[in-house]
Amino acid sequence: MKLHAQVALVTGSTHGIGRGIAVRLAQEGADVVLNGREDDAEARESLEQVRACGRRACFIAADVGRVEDCRRLVRESVARMGRLDILVNNAGVQTHAAFLDAGEEDYDRVLEVNLRGPFFLAQAFARHLREQGSGGRIINNSSVHEELPHPNFTAYCASKGGLKMLMRNIAIELAPLGITVNNVAPGAVETPINRALMNQPDKLASLLQNIPAGRLGRPHDVAGAVAFLASADAEYITGTTLVVDGGLLWNYNEQ
Ligand SMILES: NC(=O)c1ccc[n+]([C@@H]2O[C@H](COP(=O)([O-])OP(=O)(O)OC[C@H]3O[C@@H](n4cnc5c(N)ncnc54)[C@H](O)[C@@H]3O)[C@@H](O)[C@H]2O)c1
Repeated sequence: MKLHAQVALVTGSTHGIGRGIAVRLAQEGADVVLNGREDDAEARESLEQVRACGRRACFIAADVGRVEDCRRLVRESVARMGRLDILVNNAGVQTHAAFLDAGEEDYDRVLEVNLRGPFFLAQAFARHLREQGSGGRIINNSSVHEELPHPNFTAYCASKGGLKMLMRNIAIELAPLGITVNNVAPGAVETPINRALMNQPDKLASLLQNIPAGRLGRPHDVAGAVAFLASADAEYITGTTLVVDGGLLWNYNEQ
């Protein structure tokens, strides 16, 4: 087991990629704090799946778009699990809007959840590790759109591009504390965030033509990359992005 006796906090883990990451880290031996905005049936399902791996787990409701919630999430995680070693900034949202029509609310919500949350969660987490006197891992779930433009998703691309530079900067500041900071950048993954796309056969077929591997990604594809970056094997890897996209990034033409 690669992550035995470690404790991981995975934001946005009530379903989708976040649930896949939480379960995979538990399979590698980690205890897991799950998070989402509400303690609902999906949150309880994630909790059961992690516990079924034989690990300790708890769920803490918090809106990562709010700085106070981010700080409370780290504080309560430590209070309930005793320590933290791994932070996975996974929660994310997107809105579809042409740049000329996008409103302030769309912009604020996307930037708050996708960029401000990871900034203040990483800060609270790193302060905790400094007090705890141990190193640790910060892994952000970014996107190929930290590099690749995506018309009508400008706020989303701005948030993921910002997450790339947040990661690179704090990798340098936190390395002396033994904390590594990296991004995983998925391509198109089968999750509820892509429900609209998956229900439009024409759009899906044209997207699949752009993916050399010939299929969408699945949560476990991303979870395996996160488990690697969280492990001792990745101790000397910091400030980088691991792209998990079946070849999409360098083969993509917007239709
Ligand atoms: N699915 C994809 O194709 C894809 C591709 C690239 C990157 N990503 C990124 O992966 C991450 C997860 O995406 P997904 O496809 O699993 O999405 P999803 O919509 O299926 O799940 C998002 C999760 O985040 C949680 N969440 C949303 N807002 C929150 C908030 N304010 N506070 C706390 N939790 C919140 C939701 O409850 C849910 O658990 C996101 O950061 C997304 O940008 C997804």
